[in-house]
Amino acid sequence: MKDSLFIRACKSEKTERTPVWIMRQAGRYLPEYRAIRAGHDFMTMCKTPELSSEVTVQPIDIIKTDAAILFSDILVIPEAMGMHLDVIESKGPVFEAPIRQVSDIDKLNTDGFLDRLDYVMQAVKMTKEKLNNRVPLIGFSGSPWTLAAYMVEGKGSKNFDIIKSFVYNEPEAAHKLLQLLADSVIKYLNAKIRAGCDAVQIFDTWASILSPHDFEEYSLKYIRYICENLETNGAPVIVFAKGVSSYRALAELKCDVLGVDWSRNIGDVRAEIYGAKGLQGNLDPTILFAPRDKIRAETERVLQSYGKHAGHIFNLGHGITPKTPVENTQYFVECVKELSAKYHAE
Ligand code: CP3
Repeated sequence: MKDSLFIRACKSEKTERTPVWIMRQAGRYLPEYRAIRAGHDFMTMCKTPELSSEVTVQPIDIIKTDAAILFSDILVIPEAMGMHLDVIESKGPVFEAPIRQVSDIDKLNTDGFLDRLDYVMQAVKMTKEKLNNRVPLIGFSGSPWTLAAYMVEGKGSKNFDIIKSFVYNEPEAAHKLLQLLADSVIKYLNAKIRAGCDAVQIFDTWASILSPHDFEEYSLKYIRYICENLETNGAPVIVFAKGVSSYRALAELKCDVLGVDWSRNIGDVRAEIYGAKGLQGNLDPTILFAPRDKIRAETERVLQSYGKHAGHIFNLGHGITPKTPVENTQYFVECVKELSAKYHAE
């Protein structure tokens, strides 16, 4: 898939137009997803390669994006370490026994955790067969910080006071957990690449709750360690740290692309890092609820802001939301395909 639009853009090579995919494109806004999901709970879908590969391919057929992202979840890693996980319809993910002290970290079952994630590797292989080289397949992981936030909080949170008091009161334990997760993420992403993923993305959704100093201390340090130890075999690495105030330090990472959320102007971010990396983003996901002319104008605005440079992968600035109209999503992808060509002409 090295010649695909998406992989070439990740490598900042010249392309005919800007490739586009959508964070959370395999999900509830698609009636075809909901139809399958109606018969199975979320973890069963993750653990059944026939089902996860089928919903991974759905947006390629329906929305016509330029890359597929494996249907799974960042929380399969703690689940494979023995933390019981429920994904509840209106509440999101919940761990019944969150980590609250050092002894809880010691209880994590890291021996052979990768064997317990073999269903993910089988899903990668089955998806690659179903895609049949139409588009590349992205594999992903949560960052150690974002994983730790869920493992310690036990669920999503408004102010994240539990994980933050944990790192401030028990810094040694926190670093022990983060290092354990960093080593696990490396093994996990390497296995996904070996199984056939053409690119990998690290999601640091909860970078946004850390001050710049704490971001370096508790998150970036571990992302850097992961990037330096991945065996990519040429697969591009994308780092999406949501809500960071500066991209300078991220630009030094051993990765190919930085994800940009919708809070920033993508052209400003490009200038801030002197074009050192490809950028992925960054339409506000709620623009997909707007009338067509607004969707088109805002898509053009992002393209214009990035400008006539290689290395742009169009995406939303965060995940697509469950109530998004499918026809608007299709129209958005058409707009990127049509409007972006002029930014790649000689
Ligand atoms: O992008 C894709 O289409 C691939 C699938 C994917 C899922 N989760 C499926 C999912 C990916 C890449 C993720 C990553 C993920 N999971 C992140 C990082 C990205 C981000 O959005 O910030 C995070 C923080 C999680 C944890 C998680 N899993 C949350 C917060 C939720 C509940 C919120 C929600 O969207 O419902 C989940 C559940 C989940 N993961 C669903 C899907 C399709 C919905 C479950 C359902 O079908 O009921």
